[in-house]
Amino acid sequence: MLIRLSAVDLPTPPDRLFGREGPLVLEVGFGDGRFLAMLARAHPEWNLLGVEVSAASVARARKRLLKERVAHARLYLGHARFVVRNLIPPKSLHRVYVNFPDPWPKKRHQHKRLLQAPFFRLLSTRLADGGALLFTTDHEEYFTFALEEAKRTGLYRVEVGPPPPEALKTKYALKWQEQQKPIFHAAFHKAGEDAGAYPPIERYTEMPHALLEGTLPEIERFAKQVHAFEGGHVIVLEAYRDLEGPGLIFLARVEEADLVQEVLVEARPSAKGVFVGLKGFGAPLVTRGVKEAVRWVTAWLEARGLRARQRSY
Ligand SMILES: C[S@@+](CC[C@H](N)C(=O)[O-])C[C@H]1O[C@@H](n2cnc3c(N)ncnc32)[C@H](O)[C@@H]1O
Repeated sequence: MLIRLSAVDLPTPPDRLFGREGPLVLEVGFGDGRFLAMLARAHPEWNLLGVEVSAASVARARKRLLKERVAHARLYLGHARFVVRNLIPPKSLHRVYVNFPDPWPKKRHQHKRLLQAPFFRLLSTRLADGGALLFTTDHEEYFTFALEEAKRTGLYRVEVGPPPPEALKTKYALKWQEQQKPIFHAAFHKAGEDAGAYPPIERYTEMPHALLEGTLPEIERFAKQVHAFEGGHVIVLEAYRDLEGPGLIFLARVEEADLVQEVLVEARPSAKGVFVGLKGFGAPLVTRGVKEAVRWVTAWLEARGLRARQRSY
């Protein structure tokens, strides 16, 4: 049920992801998963894809869907924009539900809102003809903002009306109704398609690595390091001695467009010299940023007197 990026193609034909054909429906920010479960009951023929940035919510929703024996749902832990751009092929989404998204009310946080013109443009290329995004919120200002942003793209026919009954039964819907807050709803029907190209993120099949000569240094204290590159940055959070052997391990957070991955880079003595590469952990998607993490560790060791004999990143 959980999608692991390292195990799928980008994009992935939905029938391969679900093992059957059917209308592809995405829910963004599914929280505890009860809306996905309701959709599965109401539309057993739909292939349901959920995306959520909270790991705890993904775990909760997964438990619920397993308990309810929902077979045609897949969950992705991460950012909605990443899924729409990378996992979903062009013209393949039948419907997208966005229920009570975080409204980011402060002006300086508004860039974090999902429903703005660049996202609507990208989405227009992934929606099938006749496809739509259904947006329900308690936040009037975000509602007006989203309507204006969609209008700005000229790619949607917007219909304001009452929300689907299931959208009034989500955890947040119940909470806001209890507080007598009004609920707003709009359907954004695809009416055109953006001409821009939205290729998926570049991934590499070869594992980045390097071989060095010399002796690994001792690590007494390590201060967090940030390495910026075009398209993102690597934050090396910790470095420590491997408890299972004579090597060093570096924990790095790799941040790229709508994608955050944590990787472990190891530097360990081998018969051929000091090997630097990814340690088997979390099965990351090998992106430019992951290569940069290996490059950074190699450079860090070079600065401490080791000499690179071979590098591949
Ligand atoms: C206010 S809650 C609403 C949850 C649920 N839809 C409901 O109605 O009860 C917003 C949810 O969106 C998730 N979220 C926020 N930004 C996201 C993003 N960029 N992609 C996917 N999920 C996101 C949050 O983790 C949170 O669970």
